[in-house]
Amino acid sequence: MKIVAFNGSPRVEGNTEILLKEALRIIRDAGHEIILFNLNLMNIRPCQDCGGCDNTGQCIIDDDMTEVYDAIREGQRFILASPVFFFGLSAQAKTMIDRTQAFWCEKYLLKRPIPEGPYGRKGLLIVVGGMKKEIGIQCSEETAKAFFRTISVPVHETVSFLGVDSKGAILDVPDAFKKIEDAVKRLLL
Ligand SMILES: Cc1cc2nc3c(=O)[nH]c(=O)nc-3n(C[C@H](O)[C@H](O)[C@H](O)COP(=O)(O)O)c2cc1C
Repeated sequence: MKIVAFNGSPRVEGNTEILLKEALRIIRDAGHEIILFNLNLMNIRPCQDCGGCDNTGQCIIDDDMTEVYDAIREGQRFILASPVFFFGLSAQAKTMIDRTQAFWCEKYLLKRPIPEGPYGRKGLLIVVGGMKKEIGIQCSEETAKAFFRTISVPVHETVSFLGVDSKGAILDVPDAFKKIEDAVKRLLL
């Protein structure tokens, strides 16, 4: 299968990246193809609400989203990984998500959802928050759910960690990798 992964964290070797790398290691070992987008390194303009995609489902902005659109169409499994920033997903993740408004138009206005394909389409959300407040996870979950449904991913699972703040602190969470491993195995079913 083709697995499309989004790293929404700007922190190199931070908690999100550590968890995502572990997930991708398992996926690679299982022989699947991975397309990884490090959103912080990409040139993706925020949605301009210009209406350019309303009648076509095609965004008219020419930037790095073009390769994301292609990958979303071709992929069968999707991983969105992000830290909690101000009680929601990072700006890097949210900016990419807003640009999938083109898929929203295609699915809901033009009634052309992305076909399921032979393996179906499933998602995994990985979220890490420094605080111990659930609200950051809940807000991230709502946004991610809207994202997954928009790109015709009908089911997803969420793996979240609270109270993990300093760089690399996730390595001190005893069951973190086990949680990721279990979720990835279900993702690949
Ligand atoms: C701009 C900014 C905003 C943040 N806001 C929150 C927040 O609202 N809730 C929370 O739990 N943690 C918040 N944090 C802490 C991060 O979620 C935490 O440090 C996380 O481990 C970062 O993941 P990373 O290492 O993958 O970047 C914030 C951190 C930054 C830099």
